Amino acid sequence: CGIVACTGAPEVGRVLLDALSRLEYRGYDSAGIAVTGAADGRSAVLRTTFRVDDLQRRLDHWQPGLPATTGVAHTRWATHGEVSVDNAHPHTDCSGRLAVVHNGVLDNVLELRAELGRAGHVLTSQTDTELIAHLIEGRLGGFPLRRAVEETIGCLRGSWALAVLDGATGELVVTCHGSPLVVAESERGVFAASDLAAIAPWVERYRIVEDGDVLDLAPGLPWWRHGMAVRPPASIASTLRGTDLTRGVHPDFMAKEIEQQPEVVAEVMTTWGPSVAGDLWPSFGLQVPRHLTIVGCGTSLHAGRAVAQVTARLGGIPYSAIEASEVATTTTVPGSLAVVLSQSGETADVLRAVDVLHQRGHPILALTNNPHSALARQAQAVMLCQAGPEIGVAATKTFTAQVIGGTAMGLSLLAAARLVDRSAVRRRVAELSGVPDLLAYAIGAARRSVPDLVPALLDSPGFVFLGRGSSRVFADEGALKLKELTYRWAESHAAGELKHGPLALIETGTPVVVLDDGSERLAANIAEVRARGARVISVGPEQATIPARTSTTALARGLDWLGPLETVVGLQVLARELAVALGRDVDKPRNLAKSVTVE
Ligand code: G6P
Repeated sequence: CGIVACTGAPEVGRVLLDALSRLEYRGYDSAGIAVTGAADGRSAVLRTTFRVDDLQRRLDHWQPGLPATTGVAHTRWATHGEVSVDNAHPHTDCSGRLAVVHNGVLDNVLELRAELGRAGHVLTSQTDTELIAHLIEGRLGGFPLRRAVEETIGCLRGSWALAVLDGATGELVVTCHGSPLVVAESERGVFAASDLAAIAPWVERYRIVEDGDVLDLAPGLPWWRHGMAVRPPASIASTLRGTDLTRGVHPDFMAKEIEQQPEVVAEVMTTWGPSVAGDLWPSFGLQVPRHLTIVGCGTSLHAGRAVAQVTARLGGIPYSAIEASEVATTTTVPGSLAVVLSQSGETADVLRAVDVLHQRGHPILALTNNPHSALARQAQAVMLCQAGPEIGVAATKTFTAQVIGGTAMGLSLLAAARLVDRSAVRRRVAELSGVPDLLAYAIGAARRSVPDLVPALLDSPGFVFLGRGSSRVFADEGALKLKELTYRWAESHAAGELKHGPLALIETGTPVVVLDDGSERLAANIAEVRARGARVISVGPEQATIPARTSTTALARGLDWLGPLETVVGLQVLARELAVALGRDVDKPRNLAKSVTVE
């Protein structure tokens, strides 16, 4: 979920919704806004089970009352309660005076619900957030809103970033615990938001709200810590500026982002390439590790595995890869360097894993696309993946950027550890600068080959993806893309494992997507599924169903140490084309969020 709050803006509704549209990557199940100005002292609330653009359309006809300059807004990724208008934020108290928006999840919901029931509060939603509105109401009693909020958060367990609006007084209070929150003063108003991106066009500097801090969102940013007034923490210069967030000639952002991959990889290599054999590793200020712990979620974890395989293959550095949500319950190798990958740097599972890794004494190197993210702030060292903003929920260009940026990082480690000599590292770097051409070839070939495949796949309920060795992780990524976009089942397996179970799934016409490494063993696996009627779609060499590599270039052969990254492009195109043909929203698939900010 994403929250934004603002005071002092003449057209506060429009400003809030503009900011909110930049937080939709955190969820888009429903959205809502509340502003002051209703003549009866209530907060005026507008909510939808559609997206922010629905609110934007309705804003012109919305007449909340007196002109408002203060308000809060929210975009939701449902946790407690189905997607409905009643469950959409902002949530109000019994009187309708308070309006609360919340990112996070409360753990002690049952206890709080019982307390409110005993006190006679009538609840109208299934959410945990509505409880907060009523708890604050019960503690108002003539005190400033800030005091009631402070008392209320003392009763909460779980995570929250909260903005609380009092429609009667115009007070606006924000606080957080375990969920990120930034605040900023600017000529356009005083803002709080889950992420700087929301307010980046209007602010030059921002401040980070620490867990437990409570502040009045008002000029001068009155700030409280442990109940005492404190000076606001130092402000940080924002380097985020207005970015190109248009689709251009492309039908959707995903199509644009797939196309951008060659230029993104070129940018990564221009930025990091020259320093890989020399300064890059020393610039992190980290010791040379003997072991890597790779941590991430979804696509970022796949990128991390691909990178760790390269460092293991070339330099023998062992690694374990752990889903961020499993870190707390998984034993880690003492002294291991944690390489934490997150495109957004805001994924709650990742941030929780970082806490655990810190407690266990692991140094943390973050690989992220967001220099201002909570992850970037918490890591000892940061490597940026330089992909530019990615709007499509399904990660594409950030995956290739993470793999190439991470590989550059890995090579710099191998050089620093003297596991590979510097001249060999330079050679690898030179080879990496050929990746943009490789990707461009794969994009062109996929655009030509995939459309013809799609009609026969429209009725396929499930897909099997197979890979071997270095292609395995890319098969996993292809299956994830297909699931995310088409809402069809897709399983990914090591090809050799097929006969140990998944083969039972294969029947006449089952699509089996094979990342073809040309090996005899894989050919035998392909024969096994063909014999059972599968429709084999091969991805890889020139003669494949989806060609991704031309065998004529020396470059392509020279990059075998990297693994078949370019096959992912064909799999991205396959997933997107099928999703489009099925009428899916490829940029915003159902039930997902670009960054899931609750555990
Ligand atoms: C969500 C998205 C995935 C993404 C994952 C990790 O689940 O739907 O596409 O891979 O988060 O996101 P991050 O920003 O941490 O890379």
